Amino acid sequence: MQSLILTLPDDWHLHLRDGAALADTVPAAARQFGRGLVMPNLRPPVVTVARAREYREEILRARPPGSAWKPLMALYLTDNTAVEELRAAHASGLIVGVKYYPAGATTNSDSGVTRLEHVAPLLAEMERLDLPLLLHGEVTDPEVDIFDREAVFIERELTPLARRFPALRIVLEHVTTREGVDFVAAAPARIVATITPQHLLFNRNHLLAGGLRPHFYCLPILKRDVHQAALVAAATGGSGKFFLGTDSAPHPRTMKESSCGCAGCFSHHAALELYALAFERAGALDRLEGFASHFGADFYGLPRNAETVTLERTPWQLPETLSLGGEPLVPLAAGETLAWRMAARQPQAMP
Ligand code: DOR
Ligand code: ZN
Repeated sequence: MQSLILTLPDDWHLHLRDGAALADTVPAAARQFGRGLVMPNLRPPVVTVARAREYREEILRARPPGSAWKPLMALYLTDNTAVEELRAAHASGLIVGVKYYPAGATTNSDSGVTRLEHVAPLLAEMERLDLPLLLHGEVTDPEVDIFDREAVFIERELTPLARRFPALRIVLEHVTTREGVDFVAAAPARIVATITPQHLLFNRNHLLAGGLRPHFYCLPILKRDVHQAALVAAATGGSGKFFLGTDSAPHPRTMKESSCGCAGCFSHHAALELYALAFERAGALDRLEGFASHFGADFYGLPRNAETVTLERTPWQLPETLSLGGEPLVPLAAGETLAWRMAARQPQAMP
């Protein structure tokens, strides 16, 4: 096969940051995707609908001329979120989900939820409104090994949560373990998961063997190869419960190559091509379209994109560095050669 035509994909989990970074991150998102679900972990976080609306306007100002790419917003849940804010989020038409960061789990999660119990009435309201809960599924208990934090979250938090709120729609974002995959696969249709390119292509050996490679450091952290295999099987298995969410999370090179490096891999320079590599390795390129372009839209109750994109078998080398607001950034798989490349798209009419 020399070329592959797909419905234009969407990214159901990405980080754009704010300020000067938007001039780089927004065009990168708009190049390969129709829509992007933008994470709210700014500093300070996006905790109100008014702030989400402003942030969305800022993002739209950075959209390349002629692009029809759409940012979809998420509200950052805290112990103090007001129930009225959730109602306003639901009514806004801009906010498609509410992001749950366990406090301290990852980048800019300090204002996250300290105990699930504290937000139970909010989850009940989200269930009533049918507003999806987007989970960073890791416990923060320092006694729990970092490689076990997702599996323990599923056992201690997610399993009781799913039982307690039987109609709440839940996305286990960036699932990284066999336990996570098994939980989602066995759950009802309202419980789904996104999968990143790095967790499909890499495992903890890439991060830790033969030298410490900070550009593979993200959270949840890359796991053993058996987990990677479970993720590949889930993504390529044709189930509508697993779909694309890159978790593209840019940090300047200096913040990654440091004695205390930040978590996050930037993948929007080649997201679709990296997923294509994972699917081709699994002999499942024919399943890429469902995963990348159909299942996420179906879950969020949005129309699938009408436009298409073409992947061509044209080897190309990924850049060693890019720019993030004027600072160097090292993207995922920097310098590697990929077999598939997305053909340039024609500018689309504005909606
Ligand atoms: O690796 C990560 N980076 N994981 C997260 O959960 C947050 C993200 C970021 O914002 O940099
Ligand atoms: Zn993320």
